[in-house]
Amino acid sequence: MKTKVTVVGAGNVGATVAQGIALKELADVVLVDIVEGVPQGKSLDLAETAPVEKYDSILTGTNTYDGTENSDIIVITAGLPRKPGMSRDDLLWKNEEIVGGVTSEVVKRSPNSILIVVSNPLDAMCEVARRVSKFPRERVLGMAGVLDSARMRAFISMELNVSVENTHAFVLGGHGDTMVPLPRYSTVAGIPITELISAERIAAIVDRTRTGGAEIVNLLKTSAWYAPGASTVEMVEAILKDKRKILPCAAFLQGEYGCNGLFVGVPVKLGRNGLEQIIEIELQEDEAAALRKSADAVQELVDKLKTAA
Ligand code: LAC
Repeated sequence: MKTKVTVVGAGNVGATVAQGIALKELADVVLVDIVEGVPQGKSLDLAETAPVEKYDSILTGTNTYDGTENSDIIVITAGLPRKPGMSRDDLLWKNEEIVGGVTSEVVKRSPNSILIVVSNPLDAMCEVARRVSKFPRERVLGMAGVLDSARMRAFISMELNVSVENTHAFVLGGHGDTMVPLPRYSTVAGIPITELISAERIAAIVDRTRTGGAEIVNLLKTSAWYAPGASTVEMVEAILKDKRKILPCAAFLQGEYGCNGLFVGVPVKLGRNGLEQIIEIELQEDEAAALRKSADAVQELVDKLKTAA
Protein backbone atom coordinates (compact mmCIF):
# COMPACT_ATOMS: atom_id res chain seq x y z
CA MET A 1 0.00 0.00 0.00
CA LYS A 2 1.44 3.38 -0.90
CA THR A 3 -0.58 5.41 1.56
CA LYS A 4 1.15 5.68 4.92
CA VAL A 5 -0.08 6.68 8.35
CA THR A 6 2.33 7.16 11.24
CA VAL A 7 0.88 6.66 14.70
CA VAL A 8 3.02 8.16 17.45
CA GLY A 9 2.45 6.53 20.81
CA ALA A 10 2.01 2.75 20.85
CA GLY A 11 -0.12 2.69 23.98
CA ASN A 12 -3.70 1.53 24.02
CA VAL A 13 -5.07 4.34 21.86
CA GLY A 14 -2.21 4.22 19.34
CA ALA A 15 -2.42 0.44 18.96
CA THR A 16 -6.21 0.60 18.54
CA VAL A 17 -5.80 3.24 15.82
CA ALA A 18 -3.20 1.07 14.05
CA GLN A 19 -5.51 -1.93 14.23
CA GLY A 20 -8.51 0.03 12.94
CA ILE A 21 -6.56 1.40 9.98
CA ALA A 22 -5.35 -2.09 9.11
CA LEU A 23 -8.78 -3.69 9.45
CA LYS A 24 -10.12 -1.18 6.94
CA GLU A 25 -6.98 -1.43 4.76
CA LEU A 26 -6.74 2.34 4.74
CA ALA A 27 -2.93 2.51 4.70
CA ASP A 28 0.33 1.01 5.85
CA VAL A 29 1.01 1.95 9.46
CA VAL A 30 4.24 2.90 11.22
CA LEU A 31 3.90 2.73 14.98
CA VAL A 32 6.37 4.90 16.92
CA ASP A 33 7.08 4.81 20.65
CA ILE A 34 10.04 5.51 22.92
CA VAL A 35 9.55 2.30 24.89
CA GLU A 36 11.84 -0.32 23.40
CA GLY A 37 10.07 -3.35 22.01
CA VAL A 38 6.53 -2.04 22.36
CA PRO A 39 5.96 -0.57 18.88
CA GLN A 40 7.85 -3.49 17.34
CA GLY A 41 5.90 -6.05 19.37
CA LYS A 42 2.47 -4.54 18.79
CA SER A 43 3.05 -4.05 15.06
CA LEU A 44 4.31 -7.63 14.73
CA ASP A 45 1.24 -8.89 16.60
CA LEU A 46 -0.96 -6.89 14.21
CA ALA A 47 1.02 -8.18 11.19
CA GLU A 48 0.37 -11.71 12.41
CA THR A 49 -3.34 -10.88 12.71
CA ALA A 50 -3.44 -9.94 9.02
CA PRO A 51 -3.86 -13.46 7.56
CA VAL A 52 -6.88 -14.07 9.82
CA GLU A 53 -8.48 -10.67 9.30
CA LYS A 54 -7.43 -10.57 5.65
CA TYR A 55 -5.69 -7.23 5.39
CA ASP A 56 -2.59 -6.36 3.44
CA SER A 57 -1.67 -3.18 5.28
CA ILE A 58 1.98 -3.41 6.30
CA LEU A 59 2.64 -2.68 9.96
CA THR A 60 6.03 -1.72 11.32
CA GLY A 61 7.25 -0.42 14.66
CA THR A 62 10.17 1.80 15.56
CA ASN A 63 11.75 3.69 18.47
CA THR A 64 13.11 6.33 16.09
CA TYR A 65 11.26 8.20 13.38
CA ASP A 66 13.03 6.28 10.60
CA GLY A 67 10.45 4.86 8.25
CA THR A 68 7.88 7.59 8.92
CA GLU A 69 9.07 9.66 5.93
CA ASN A 70 6.36 10.99 3.64
CA SER A 71 3.44 9.87 5.74
CA ASP A 72 0.07 11.09 4.51
CA ILE A 73 -1.28 11.41 8.04
CA ILE A 74 0.42 11.52 11.42
CA VAL A 75 -1.72 10.60 14.41
CA ILE A 76 -0.25 11.90 17.67
CA THR A 77 -1.39 9.93 20.71
CA ALA A 78 1.86 10.32 22.68
CA GLY A 79 1.66 11.69 26.18
CA LEU A 80 0.67 10.73 29.66
CA PRO A 81 -2.87 9.43 30.05
CA ARG A 82 -5.21 10.56 32.80
CA LYS A 83 -5.28 8.77 36.12
CA PRO A 84 -8.24 8.85 38.50
CA GLY A 85 -8.78 12.29 39.97
CA MET A 86 -6.82 14.01 37.19
CA SER A 87 -8.49 16.33 34.74
CA ARG A 88 -7.27 16.42 31.15
CA ASP A 89 -5.85 19.85 31.99
CA ASP A 90 -3.53 18.45 34.67
CA LEU A 91 -1.47 16.98 31.87
CA LEU A 92 -0.73 20.33 30.23
CA TRP A 93 3.01 20.95 30.58
CA LYS A 94 4.25 17.39 30.49
CA ASN A 95 2.28 16.63 27.37
CA GLU A 96 3.18 19.97 25.81
CA GLU A 97 6.81 18.89 25.96
CA ILE A 98 6.02 15.46 24.53
CA VAL A 99 3.69 16.65 21.75
CA GLY A 100 6.04 19.50 20.82
CA GLY A 101 8.99 17.12 20.53
CA VAL A 102 7.03 14.57 18.52
CA THR A 103 5.68 17.21 16.17
CA SER A 104 9.09 18.61 15.35
CA GLU A 105 10.40 15.10 14.55
CA VAL A 106 7.48 14.04 12.37
CA VAL A 107 7.11 17.21 10.32
CA LYS A 108 10.80 17.18 9.39
CA ARG A 109 10.20 13.85 7.68
CA SER A 110 6.64 14.40 6.47
CA PRO A 111 6.32 18.09 5.63
CA ASN A 112 3.11 17.59 3.64
CA SER A 113 1.30 15.40 6.14
CA ILE A 114 -1.95 16.06 7.94
CA LEU A 115 -1.66 15.99 11.74
CA ILE A 116 -4.41 14.50 13.86
CA VAL A 117 -3.81 15.20 17.53
CA VAL A 118 -5.34 12.91 20.16
CA SER A 119 -3.18 13.74 23.21
CA ASN A 120 -4.75 15.68 26.07
CA PRO A 121 -5.57 18.35 26.96
CA LEU A 122 -6.71 18.06 23.37
CA ASP A 123 -7.39 21.57 22.17
CA ALA A 124 -4.23 23.00 23.74
CA MET A 125 -2.14 20.13 22.31
CA CYS A 126 -3.51 20.95 18.85
CA GLU A 127 -2.18 24.48 19.32
CA VAL A 128 1.23 23.11 20.32
CA ALA A 129 1.30 20.96 17.15
CA ARG A 130 0.21 23.94 15.03
CA ARG A 131 2.88 26.23 16.49
CA VAL A 132 5.69 23.71 16.17
CA SER A 133 4.71 22.40 12.71
CA LYS A 134 3.81 25.83 11.31
CA PHE A 135 1.33 23.92 9.13
CA PRO A 136 -1.73 25.72 7.78
CA ARG A 137 -4.91 25.08 9.74
CA GLU A 138 -6.17 22.74 7.02
CA ARG A 139 -3.55 20.21 8.14
CA VAL A 140 -3.79 20.34 11.94
CA LEU A 141 -6.89 18.77 13.43
CA GLY A 142 -7.83 17.36 16.79
CA MET A 143 -9.89 14.26 17.55
CA ALA A 144 -12.44 14.87 20.29
CA GLY A 145 -15.85 15.69 18.86
CA VAL A 146 -16.24 12.34 17.12
CA LEU A 147 -15.57 10.61 20.44
CA ASP A 148 -17.80 12.88 22.51
CA SER A 149 -20.59 12.51 19.93
CA ALA A 150 -20.14 8.74 19.86
CA ARG A 151 -20.56 8.65 23.63
CA MET A 152 -23.69 10.77 23.42
CA ARG A 153 -25.05 8.53 20.64
CA ALA A 154 -24.41 5.45 22.76
CA PHE A 155 -26.33 7.01 25.66
CA ILE A 156 -29.23 8.07 23.39
CA SER A 157 -29.42 4.56 21.98
CA MET A 158 -29.44 3.06 25.50
CA GLU A 159 -32.14 5.51 26.59
CA LEU A 160 -34.52 4.75 23.72
CA ASN A 161 -33.48 1.18 23.05
CA VAL A 162 -32.91 1.94 19.37
CA SER A 163 -30.10 1.10 16.99
CA VAL A 164 -27.02 3.26 17.35
CA GLU A 165 -27.22 3.55 13.57
CA ASN A 166 -30.36 5.68 13.96
CA THR A 167 -28.61 8.12 16.24
CA HIS A 168 -26.81 11.31 15.45
CA ALA A 169 -25.33 13.62 18.07
CA PHE A 170 -23.72 16.98 17.97
CA VAL A 171 -21.09 18.04 20.48
CA LEU A 172 -19.21 21.30 20.08
CA GLY A 173 -16.57 23.12 22.12
CA GLY A 174 -13.39 22.03 23.81
CA HIS A 175 -12.74 18.44 24.87
CA GLY A 176 -13.25 19.13 28.54
CA ASP A 177 -15.90 19.47 31.18
CA THR A 178 -17.26 22.54 29.40
CA MET A 179 -17.94 20.74 26.11
CA VAL A 180 -21.27 21.64 24.54
CA PRO A 181 -23.59 18.75 23.60
CA LEU A 182 -26.42 20.18 21.47
CA PRO A 183 -29.69 18.24 21.99
CA ARG A 184 -31.48 20.34 19.37
CA TYR A 185 -29.17 19.01 16.68
CA SER A 186 -29.04 15.48 18.07
CA THR A 187 -31.48 13.15 16.37
CA VAL A 188 -32.86 9.64 16.14
CA ALA A 189 -33.90 8.70 12.61
CA GLY A 190 -33.91 12.43 11.84
CA ILE A 191 -36.17 13.34 14.79
CA PRO A 192 -34.61 15.77 17.32
CA ILE A 193 -34.17 14.02 20.68
CA THR A 194 -35.98 16.97 22.27
CA GLU A 195 -39.16 15.43 20.77
CA LEU A 196 -38.41 11.95 22.07
CA ILE A 197 -36.76 12.25 25.47
CA SER A 198 -37.83 14.28 28.52
CA ALA A 199 -35.85 17.40 29.39
CA GLU A 200 -34.72 15.77 32.61
CA ARG A 201 -33.36 12.66 30.86
CA ILE A 202 -31.70 14.79 28.19
CA ALA A 203 -29.95 16.74 30.94
CA ALA A 204 -28.69 13.45 32.37
CA ILE A 205 -27.44 12.32 28.94
CA VAL A 206 -25.69 15.66 28.40
CA ASP A 207 -24.04 15.39 31.79
CA ARG A 208 -22.92 11.80 31.22
CA THR A 209 -21.48 12.80 27.84
CA ARG A 210 -19.48 15.64 29.42
CA THR A 211 -18.01 13.31 32.02
CA GLY A 212 -17.80 10.27 29.73
CA GLY A 213 -14.00 10.23 29.71
CA ALA A 214 -13.79 10.43 33.51
CA GLU A 215 -16.40 7.66 33.88
CA ILE A 216 -14.02 5.31 32.07
CA VAL A 217 -10.94 6.59 33.91
CA ASN A 218 -12.66 5.83 37.20
CA LEU A 219 -13.43 2.29 36.10
CA LEU A 220 -10.16 1.43 34.37
CA LYS A 221 -7.78 3.70 36.32
CA THR A 222 -6.53 4.92 32.96
CA SER A 223 -7.96 6.61 29.88
CA ALA A 224 -10.31 4.98 27.37
CA TRP A 225 -9.00 3.55 24.09
CA TYR A 226 -11.57 1.65 22.01
CA ALA A 227 -13.86 4.61 21.33
CA PRO A 228 -11.01 7.14 21.04
CA GLY A 229 -9.21 4.76 18.65
CA ALA A 230 -12.28 4.10 16.49
CA SER A 231 -13.11 7.82 16.40
CA THR A 232 -9.63 8.64 15.16
CA VAL A 233 -9.91 5.99 12.45
CA GLU A 234 -13.15 7.58 11.24
CA MET A 235 -11.27 10.84 10.70
CA VAL A 236 -8.36 9.05 8.97
CA GLU A 237 -10.81 7.28 6.65
CA ALA A 238 -12.69 10.49 5.80
CA ILE A 239 -9.41 12.15 4.83
CA LEU A 240 -7.74 9.31 2.93
CA LYS A 241 -10.89 8.45 0.97
CA ASP A 242 -11.64 12.14 0.40
CA LYS A 243 -15.14 11.49 1.68
CA ARG A 244 -15.97 15.11 2.52
CA LYS A 245 -17.64 13.85 5.62
CA ILE A 246 -18.82 16.37 8.18
CA LEU A 247 -17.49 15.43 11.59
CA PRO A 248 -17.01 17.44 14.76
CA CYS A 249 -13.27 18.08 15.06
CA ALA A 250 -11.02 20.48 16.91
CA ALA A 251 -10.14 23.10 14.31
CA PHE A 252 -8.22 26.38 14.44
CA LEU A 253 -10.93 29.01 14.21
CA GLN A 254 -10.33 32.31 12.49
CA GLY A 255 -13.48 34.22 13.25
CA GLU A 256 -15.94 31.33 12.95
CA TYR A 257 -18.31 30.97 15.89
CA GLY A 258 -16.95 34.26 17.22
CA CYS A 259 -13.56 32.69 18.05
CA ASN A 260 -10.27 33.86 16.64
CA GLY A 261 -6.93 32.06 16.77
CA LEU A 262 -8.13 29.19 18.92
CA PHE A 263 -8.77 25.45 18.53
CA VAL A 264 -12.38 24.60 19.37
CA GLY A 265 -14.54 21.64 18.40
CA VAL A 266 -16.83 22.52 15.48
CA PRO A 267 -18.35 20.66 12.51
CA VAL A 268 -15.68 20.26 9.85
CA LYS A 269 -15.87 18.84 6.34
CA LEU A 270 -12.97 16.38 6.10
CA GLY A 271 -11.41 15.45 2.78
CA ARG A 272 -8.05 14.77 1.17
CA ASN A 273 -6.81 18.26 2.07
CA GLY A 274 -7.73 17.76 5.70
CA LEU A 275 -10.03 20.56 6.79
CA GLU A 276 -12.02 21.40 3.65
CA GLN A 277 -14.58 23.65 5.28
CA ILE A 278 -15.88 24.73 8.66
CA ILE A 279 -19.64 24.45 8.86
CA GLU A 280 -21.21 27.28 10.81
CA ILE A 281 -24.59 26.63 12.33
CA GLU A 282 -26.92 29.10 13.97
CA LEU A 283 -26.76 28.81 17.76
CA GLN A 284 -29.37 29.93 20.25
CA GLU A 285 -28.29 32.37 22.92
CA ASP A 286 -27.72 29.75 25.64
CA GLU A 287 -25.83 27.48 23.23
CA ALA A 288 -23.61 30.34 22.07
CA ALA A 289 -22.92 31.28 25.70
CA ALA A 290 -21.95 27.68 26.50
CA LEU A 291 -19.62 27.59 23.51
CA ARG A 292 -18.07 30.89 24.58
CA LYS A 293 -17.45 29.47 28.05
CA SER A 294 -15.87 26.36 26.56
CA ALA A 295 -13.65 28.47 24.27
CA ASP A 296 -12.62 30.57 27.27
CA ALA A 297 -11.54 27.39 29.09
CA VAL A 298 -9.38 26.42 26.08
CA GLN A 299 -7.94 29.94 25.89
CA GLU A 300 -6.99 29.78 29.55
CA LEU A 301 -4.89 26.68 28.90
CA VAL A 302 -3.39 28.04 25.69
CA ASP A 303 -2.30 31.13 27.63
CA LYS A 304 -0.23 28.86 29.90
CA LEU A 305 1.67 27.17 27.04
CA LYS A 306 5.40 27.67 26.89
CA THR A 307 5.77 26.96 23.15
CA ALA A 308 6.32 30.22 21.27
CA ALA A 309 3.36 31.32 19.19
C1 LAC B 1 -11.39 10.47 26.74
C2 LAC B 1 -9.96 10.85 26.56
C3 LAC B 1 -9.37 10.20 25.37
O1 LAC B 1 -12.26 11.35 26.60
O2 LAC B 1 -9.83 12.24 26.49
O3 LAC B 1 -11.63 9.30 27.00
